[in-house]
Formats: sequence, structure tokens, C-alpha cells
Amino acid sequence: MPGWGKRRSMGPVCLLIVGVAAGTAFAQDRLSDEVLQSADYTRGRLAFQQRCSACHTLANRGSNLAGPNLWDVVNNPAGSKDGFAYSAALSRAEFDWTPDRIAAFIADPAASVVGTTMMIPEGVPEADRGSMISFIMVETGAAGWPRPEPELAESDVDPDAPISERYASFWNHMMKNTTHYRLVNGGDEIVFDAYFNTDGSVSANNESIRGFWRVDERDFFCYALYGIPMAPFEFVECFPIVAMSIPRFAEELWQSNPVGDVTLHGGILPGRPGAL
Ligand code: HEC
Repeated sequence: MPGWGKRRSMGPVCLLIVGVAAGTAFAQDRLSDEVLQSADYTRGRLAFQQRCSACHTLANRGSNLAGPNLWDVVNNPAGSKDGFAYSAALSRAEFDWTPDRIAAFIADPAASVVGTTMMIPEGVPEADRGSMISFIMVETGAAGWPRPEPELAESDVDPDAPISERYASFWNHMMKNTTHYRLVNGGDEIVFDAYFNTDGSVSANNESIRGFWRVDERDFFCYALYGIPMAPFEFVECFPIVAMSIPRFAEELWQSNPVGDVTLHGGILPGRPGAL
């Protein structure tokens, strides 16, 4: 099992001390597998989007933002993501993130890991912790149960807030990563990468291709690409943001027919050239 080396250097006595130093939060009910499996995924997703997604991505190979990417965080050593500058408190920590540890951490980061630089405006209420951690486990490859079917429910986030806040994980996913296209028109095919930019423009690794995007009043993300050096030369596509709000990476995530017989295969790949 990856990541156990760090813990093995510790005896049970040390672990006990860490547990005590970590404070009172451990006194709460443990998050059993049963509790986690039956938790409310949608509630957990909403809580994560509102409280965590501005600083954390979940998908495998997702970028580090203000906080580290959380893929594979559960049951692995704290402070162990490559390329993230942790506080001394987390980089020297000698414990694994169990669901209970995470519950204590998000209830009160400073009390649970003394010296951590993670600051959240307010602790996550106990009623949300189980569903949030269950959601994190599903989205970071730690759950032994399937992801529930996503429903396109209205989210009850403040409708006047900017898209970067209302759909922070979607926003980070589109604006920091690479959108990969394969357009097929009869026997012709073109493959290129596009980059959605926060100023509303779209650039591409093929210099002739340009575009722009906007979000309409139904929270559909609409964009146009033009200058494609192959028929159809340009196209427009719209999709509901909620359908994309759980960021994933794959070369082919969706398929559509933006124009006539043209088939578009779209995907999102981690990172983009020139990004940190
Ligand atoms: C304002 C930015 C911010 C927000 C919001 C935030 N975090 Fe963090 N998070 C961080 C930073 C920074 C660290 C690294 C802390 C350190 O090094 O001490 C971190 C670390 C973590 C870790 C440990 C990761 C590891 O590799 O050891 C977990 C788990 C975590 N956060 C979960 C959450 C959850 C769940 C939420 C939502 C309730 C959340 N965070 C909200 C910034 C944030």
C-alpha cells in the first residue's frame, strides 16, 4: 500500500500522542463505512463546492491550487502530495488521513493540526461532514462503492454570485487545464488543444483557431471556436454547467454533433502549457 512508509517509522506510542495533541474532535462518533456509504452525495458535493473547491481539486492529476490536489488523500500520509509547499506542520506530520481525521480537520483545522496554514472561514458543521467526506472519497478514488448517477438538479447557491464562485470546481477545471478536441468530418479529422481563459477568450495550440465563451442566464456554458483549418471552420456548442461540475480528466469525455455530420470528441487534460 503506497504511503505507509511514513507511518511505519512511528511506534504506537507516538501515534497516541499525535491523537491527543490533535484535540477533542476525535471524541465525536466515528465515520463508519456504513455511514459513509449511505451519505448524501449531492449534499456532500454542494458543501464541497461551496467550502473547499476554491482551493482544492479532486481529480487524478488535478492541479494544486491554494491547497493541494486531493486525489488519493484518504488513507494516505498527510502532507505527501508532490509539488505542493506544505506547512512544516503537515510536511512533518506522521499520520494518514482517515475519514475521522479529515472530519476533525475540517471542523477546526487549527485545533486539529496545530500550525497548519489551511484556513477556512468557518468550520464545516457536523451535519455536513459525513456527506462531504463521502463525496470526497467517491471523487478521489477512495470509495469502494459507485458514484451515484448525477442529476441535473438546480443548485441552491446564490444565483447572483459570479460563475467562478457558484461553480468553482468547474471554473478551475476549465480555466487551468487543456480542452482537447478531435473533430471528424467524413474522412477528415483534426486534433487540437484549446485553452479557455478567464477573460472570456479561447486560445489554442493551433494558431489559426480562436474563440470566445460566455455563460447564459440558464447557466449554460456556451462557446464558439473559429478559424478551424478544416470544414466546418467554426462551430458553437452549449452545455449545462451542472453536467460538468464534477471535474474529470480524459481525452474523450463527451461527443456531440455541433454541425451537420461533424462529430466532435471533447476531453479535458490536466494542466496547460505555460501554467505553473
Ligand atoms: C483558502 C484555501 C482552502 C480552503 C477553502 C480549504 N483548504 Fe484544505 N488546504 C489548504 C491548504 C493551504 C492546505 C495545506 C495546509 C498545510 O500545509 O498546513 C490544505 C490541506 C488540506 C488537506 C490535507 C491534504 C494533504 O495532502 O495532507 C485536506 C484533507 C484538506 N485541505 C481538505 C479540505 C476540505 C475538505 C476543505 C473544505 C471544507 C478545505 N480543505 C478547504 C487550503 C484550503
